[in-house]
Amino acid sequence: RVADFSTWFTLLISRCRVLSTTMRATKLPFTFSSLLLLGVSQDTGVTMPGADIVTQNDLLIVGPGVLGRLVAEKWLKEHPGCKVFGQTASTDHHSELTDIGIIPSLKGSTISQKAPYVIFCAPPSRSDDYPGDLRVAASNWNGEGSFLFTSSTALYDCSDNRLCNEDCPSIPVGRGPRTDVLLRAENVVLEAGGCVLRLAGLYTHKIDRGAHYFWLRKGTLDSRPDHIINQIHYEDAASLAIAIMKKRPRGRIFLGCDNKPLSRKEIMDAVNKSGKFDTKFQGFTGTDGPLGKRMENSKTRADIGWEPQYPSFTEFLGVDS
Ligand SMILES: NC(=O)c1ccc[n+]([C@@H]2O[C@H](COP(=O)([O-])OP(=O)(O)OC[C@H]3O[C@@H](n4cnc5c(N)ncnc54)[C@H](OP(=O)(O)O)[C@@H]3O)[C@@H](O)[C@H]2O)c1
Repeated sequence: RVADFSTWFTLLISRCRVLSTTMRATKLPFTFSSLLLLGVSQDTGVTMPGADIVTQNDLLIVGPGVLGRLVAEKWLKEHPGCKVFGQTASTDHHSELTDIGIIPSLKGSTISQKAPYVIFCAPPSRSDDYPGDLRVAASNWNGEGSFLFTSSTALYDCSDNRLCNEDCPSIPVGRGPRTDVLLRAENVVLEAGGCVLRLAGLYTHKIDRGAHYFWLRKGTLDSRPDHIINQIHYEDAASLAIAIMKKRPRGRIFLGCDNKPLSRKEIMDAVNKSGKFDTKFQGFTGTDGPLGKRMENSKTRADIGWEPQYPSFTEFLGVDS
């Protein structure tokens, strides 16, 4: 009896935290009955009343990490009262997710009813069967809103600083294990009627994410300085993902980048010039290796009606001439 009460009480507290966050995010009045409608299928295995009530804008986020949480925040603002579920690899961040209004569960767990919107934005690094994870995500989509997978621009078969847009052919299967996994995952999504958003390198100022942080920590790098890098701010990747989902396209591949490719040297010169970092980058010492590609996504922008908030990495740092 004591154990039963303790489980019930823990779930009630967790439910209250979801409610208070949702109230704060939506600024709408909630009743106790609406609290009960926010069904939580926690990793405890206990299904709360209402977990099976799916509304038309409910969203399942597989991999609510940095990008997924931004998507959740924006989605909750745009769709007050909807439920946002988040499936993770571990329970490590479940309380953080609950705090921002995401109903957490472990990957592989089935949600009691399929969701109208599903975004898969977990990286491949912690999966033994990435295409299989996409298959599970597809099976949790009810086919109505959108199913979107965040893939990588690494799949465009282009190099030597040539221009690369949505029409550029994809790398063939067999080029390497990393690209093969992504290609197979994309195929699962496209066959299910979902869409793919191939993202350039992601960066943000809030946490240590982005190529520039990695290079700054190293101080110096044995890579050629003129290799071209394509990027997009995490906020812009989230707003583009949402804009795509809201259009409900089927079986399409979109491209997410800021249209301002920069060389490694240009990126780190801007970092040094910005005065926003404690240390200075010393330099790139390499002389060979591939030259990269120059990404351009005007077709995606026109189709979706989207523009980035951060037009370039240098403007983001405030050092554009
Ligand atoms: N970083 C880049 O430059 C870049 C470039 C192109 C594309 N992308 C893609 O952009 C997306 C978002 O990246 P991000 O940096 O936001 O990712 P992230 O922060 O590293 O995402 C981590 C989240 O994914 C969960 N997770 C990991 N593997 C999972 C799995 N197999 N199934 C379910 N959940 C899983 C983690 O669970 P825990 O809470 O248990 O840790 C955590 O919630 C990814 O699809 C990535 O491949 C990234």
